[in-house]
This record gives sequence, structure tokens and C-alpha cells, in this order.
Amino acid sequence: MDVSLSILTIDYAKIQESLAPLEEAYTHLHMDVMDGVFVSKISFGSDLIASLRKTTNIPIDTHLMIVEPEKHIEDFAKAGSDMITFHIEATEKVSQTIDLIRSFHLQVGIALNPETPISKIEPYLSKVDLVLVMSVHPGYGGQKFIPSVVEKLKSLKDLKKKKQLRFRISVDGGINNETILAVQPYADMVVSGSYILKNAHPKEELLKWKHIFPSDAI
Ligand code: DX5
Ligand code: ZN
Repeated sequence: MDVSLSILTIDYAKIQESLAPLEEAYTHLHMDVMDGVFVSKISFGSDLIASLRKTTNIPIDTHLMIVEPEKHIEDFAKAGSDMITFHIEATEKVSQTIDLIRSFHLQVGIALNPETPISKIEPYLSKVDLVLVMSVHPGYGGQKFIPSVVEKLKSLKDLKKKKQLRFRISVDGGINNETILAVQPYADMVVSGSYILKNAHPKEELLKWKHIFPSDAI
């Protein structure tokens, strides 16, 4: 199991000093970009990604919660993202967005909100590297995991097997030491932010996850 650390709820004045001691304990850095339109809040843009890119070799997993993501792929690719995930609900140009991300030789992720059925992303599953299943409504860190998402994860994994596809499954929102147990049978990656960042021993917690659920990354 890979662990992508979301910095959404970090103290932005202390990003580097907070992240540096955790570095070997997580596998990806999850960057939640919000535009105030697709979700109500505005978070940060590509400049923060470009700055962090200079400080770490950890793969950067950029999660775009923005409308018309196709207009901004080049910017986020050039900032140093290794993987760019966009929302199926945010664009009419799904295939073009996938191809655009791929043209920068990056991994492609497609995200879906809790109420969006798997059938909406099904036509694109053979073209993506990752499906990001939202287990909270996008927009804020620190929300409670929505339990019905576990059933959706199971269906997605069954579909993947049935169609013999290779995409990885990531779960984003409300992941803590209990909810990780519920998603573990279906997820290749979890995104976690507030639970880790508020923990008194974040590194120990991340290492526990790493040891309990060894990565079987393909
Ligand atoms: C929600 C974001 C998530 C979230 C993860 O819109 O996409 O990445 O902040 O953080 P926690 O672990 O706090 O739910
Ligand atoms: Zn996210």
C-alpha cells in the first residue's frame, strides 16, 4: 500500500520543517489544488508545487479540484508533478485531458466524487494509471470518511479484475488508523492528511502503515 501525504491542512509557514522528518515514511506527496469553483475553497497553485519539487525527490501526486483542468495541465506538469489527477465531473473533455497529461509523460489519474457512479469513468479505465475514489466530499481536509465508499471500492476492484485492467486504486479523505483497515482489501494507495499531520508521532504512524500493508506497486 502506498501512502500519499496530503498537505492541505499543514501549517504552510512550516511546510519544509514538517515534511522533512517524515520523508522516508510516505511514498507520494498529495497536492490538493482547489479553484473556488469546482469546490468552494481556493487552496494553492502550481508555484507551491514547483517550490516543493526543488526540496524532495518524492513523487508528486497532484489532485486537481478545478473546472476545465485541460487548461492548466501544462502548468502543473511543468511545475514538476509526477502524476496528475483530475475530476470526471469537472470537464467535458475527458479523453483530451488524459491525452494531454500523457503527452508530458506523466501518470494519469481520474477522480470521482462520492455520489458519482463508477459507470461514469468506465469508458476511460483502460487509459488511466490511477482511479482516485473520493471518500469525502472534496473541498476540505479533516472530514469524516463516508462508509458506503467501501462498497464502491469493491465494485471497482471487481471491474478491474473482470476487464483485466491495470489502473491502481487510491482512496482520498478521512483515512485514519481505523478506516485504512476498511479500504485496505481494495486500495493500492491511500491519501491521508489531517490524521497524520495532527498525530503526535506522525512518522511512527506512517511506518506502521507501511509495515502492516507492504506496497505491491506495479
Ligand atoms: C479533500 C482532499 C483530500 C483531503 C485529505 O478535498 O482531496 O486530499 O484533504 O485529507 P484528510 O486526510 O484530512 O481527509
Ligand atoms: Zn486530495
